[in-house]
Amino acid sequence: MIGTDIFTAKRFLEAGDVVGIPTETVYGLAANALDSNAVLTIFRVKNRPAFDPLIVHTDSPEKVRGLVLNLPPLAEKLASAFWPGPLTLLLPKQPHVPDLTTSGLPRVAVRIPNHPLTLSLLKQLDFPLAAPSANPFGYISPTTAGHVADQLGNQVPYILDGGPCQIGLESTIIGFDEAEQPTVFRLGGMALEQIEAVTGPLPVRDHSSSNPAAPGMLSSHYAPRKPVTLLLPDQLPTPSNQAGALVFSNWLPGIPASSQLRLSPAGDLGEAAKNLFAYLRLLDTMPVSHLYVQLAPNQGLGRAINDRLRRAAA
Ligand code: TXA
Ligand code: MG
Repeated sequence: MIGTDIFTAKRFLEAGDVVGIPTETVYGLAANALDSNAVLTIFRVKNRPAFDPLIVHTDSPEKVRGLVLNLPPLAEKLASAFWPGPLTLLLPKQPHVPDLTTSGLPRVAVRIPNHPLTLSLLKQLDFPLAAPSANPFGYISPTTAGHVADQLGNQVPYILDGGPCQIGLESTIIGFDEAEQPTVFRLGGMALEQIEAVTGPLPVRDHSSSNPAAPGMLSSHYAPRKPVTLLLPDQLPTPSNQAGALVFSNWLPGIPASSQLRLSPAGDLGEAAKNLFAYLRLLDTMPVSHLYVQLAPNQGLGRAINDRLRRAAA
């Protein structure tokens, strides 16, 4: 069932069930992060391997402090600059955060999402919500309640409909090591330039290969169900009536315009991010045999867009 009633969502969550929740980034598949059985249901519904840890969502910095051992000064600065917002911090977990939630890792991923419905839901719950993106493992993240219903509807008793996601890319993940040094684990909905304005230059973890420390970063993670060829911004496709394309702002020559989707005709990276996953889904339903995807300018949200496009093509 899809609806807008946070009390219905609350009832299911308190009973240990999973609920689809809106955030500004993508829709999440939420359950009580402190209840191993509820968390197990997330893994089962998503068909997600147990080695891929979940992000824990709360509505206040005080509640975040109750989940982590300490908040390094730089993490504190990032939190006050960008929460609620599309930023996730990886910090040493308190013992009561179940190992299942963090896949046995010593750190927990925490974030305060910026969506009014989900914030008021979180405020009324006396536990935080573990929530991976609400898609079957390895597929494209959902940016509308309808996407969640299409793929997981019969296994999710309630989907809270908060409209289309305003950012459209998963959160940027920043991890802190024992020496409290930050590293970018995942490019995402918070532009790296904005984060580095607070932290200074950051190392970006290479996640092109299978990496047990950040398993959600497996290449091919966003794969649509058709063969994908990546195009650099100035590269041209082999002309074909059978091909489809996802372009940044200008039509490609040699491919029917009716088989092309433009992420942002105006060339706006925010608009492109917002359309990205919905358009990848649309391409999957188009009567074409293979897809071209064109990279966006590699700056701001363009870096995260290109990261997702590269993995869609992997
Ligand atoms: O925007 C988002 O972050 C969305 C919304 C729902 O909040 N959530 C999301 O979750 O994208 P998910 O599960 O699709 O991606 C989370 C990724 C994991 O795949 C993993 O790579 C990383 O975050 N992660 C989570 N906990 C971690 C941990 N303890 N150590 C290392 N990586 C972790
Ligand atoms: Mg995901």
